[in-house]
This record gives sequence, structure tokens and C-alpha cells, in this order.
Amino acid sequence: MSGIFDAGKQEVPTLAYRYRSVTPVLLPLLVTMLPASAADTDSVERGAELLAPFKRELMTALTDGLADGPVAAIDVCRIRAPEIAAASTDDDVRIGRSSHRLRNPGNVGPEWSKPLLDAYLSDGSDRKPKFVELADDRYGYVEPIGVAPLCLNCHGKTLAPAVAERISELYPDDEATGYELGDFRGIFWVEFASDSVQ
Ligand code: HEC
Repeated sequence: MSGIFDAGKQEVPTLAYRYRSVTPVLLPLLVTMLPASAADTDSVERGAELLAPFKRELMTALTDGLADGPVAAIDVCRIRAPEIAAASTDDDVRIGRSSHRLRNPGNVGPEWSKPLLDAYLSDGSDRKPKFVELADDRYGYVEPIGVAPLCLNCHGKTLAPAVAERISELYPDDEATGYELGDFRGIFWVEFASDSVQ
């Protein structure tokens, strides 16, 4: 189970080669996504480090919740996920999950995360973490989330009737079903102050 959220764990700061073929017009925008210095590498590592406990706790909560059946586990995603995110958040650090196909419209990511989300969507094989430098000495870090077998209970093509019913009750505008194993589901995002980087 523990590897499920680790889709983005690979050798972190090697994004440069991906953009070799982009047009010159886009390059200035993309350069900010390339960790160029040791400080940038530290920030990428810091992002991964800040995210790790959130992923771990979420996975544990989800796995425990599913032991009581998928309908009961819906509340884990609905109630526990925001609680776990809030517990990982303070003035220096904000953490969340987002997607191009949202279940909860409140899970829209911060503005800076949108081009990074789009980058994953335009290259389906890209599963590397990404990083941007933000204003006010802050950084943004994202990791892609892939669909694992247990996710299909609530995000798959065919849901158990009781699950489908509960989800449509709670999320009338749900866009987050119809996924297949291995699909790109969305992102984890972390925004943090540079002075929280050691
Ligand atoms: C028991 C049902 C259930 C399972 C299993 C489940 N999810 Fe969800 N998922 C939900 C619910 C409910 C929400 C909405 C939570 C909220 O209100 O913030 C959600 C939200 C999300 C979001 C946030 C973006 C959005 O659409 O609102 C992501 C990303 C996500 N799930 C990914 C996954 C992945 C990956 C797995 C498998 C590891 C998984 N989920 C397993 C029910 C489930």
C-alpha cells in the first residue's frame, strides 16, 4: 500500500530535458520550473519532505476506512483529508490535492499550480515532481497522483450502487469517476516559504 502515492518520488531535480523541444516563446515561462541551483534542489527536496507525512497519513486513513467498506470510507476522503491537510498547514506551509476533474469543487489548487497540472495533462508519461519559484520568497511544489487499484472503488468506471449513490448525494457536480488503473488523477501541491528551507 505504501507505494501508492509515490508516483512522483523519482530522481527529483531533472526536469530540464523535458523542455528541450519547447518553442522559444514558452521558454522564459518554463525556465522557472527548472531547478538550476543547489538552493533550488534543496527546495524541491523540502517540498517532497513536507508532503511525505500528508501522503502517509492520508493513505493510512483511507486504508483503515476501506476496512469498513467503501461507503464508510467516503467520509475519510471527505472529512479526514481536509483535516490532515489542515494539520500540515501553517503560516509557512500550505498543502492540498487538486485535479483537472474535481470531485469537490473546493479542491481547486492555487493559481501557480495550474500550469503544472496542465503540463502533466499534455504529457501523459510525465510523472516527475515539479517546482516553481513564487513571489515573496515562496516556492510551489507538485507531485502527480496515479490511480491505484483501491482508488477504483470511488473513482473507477463502475462503482458499487451504494457508493455511486452516496457520492452523487454529496458531490452533485462530481467529475472524478471513469478512471482506469494507472491514469493520472491529479496532483498533490505544497506551497512553502523559502525560509522554511534549511
Ligand atoms: C472511499 C472512496 C474513495 C476512495 C477509495 C478514494 N477516493 Fe479520492 N476522493 C473521494 C472523495 C469523497 C473525494 C472528495 C474529498 C473532498 O471532499 O475533499 C476525493 C477526492 C480526491 C482528490 C482531490 C481532488 C478532487 O477531485 O476533489 C484526489 C486527488 C483523489 N481523491 C485521489 C484519489 C486516489 C489517488 C485514490 C486512491 C489511492 C483515491 N482518491 C481513493 C473518495 C475516494
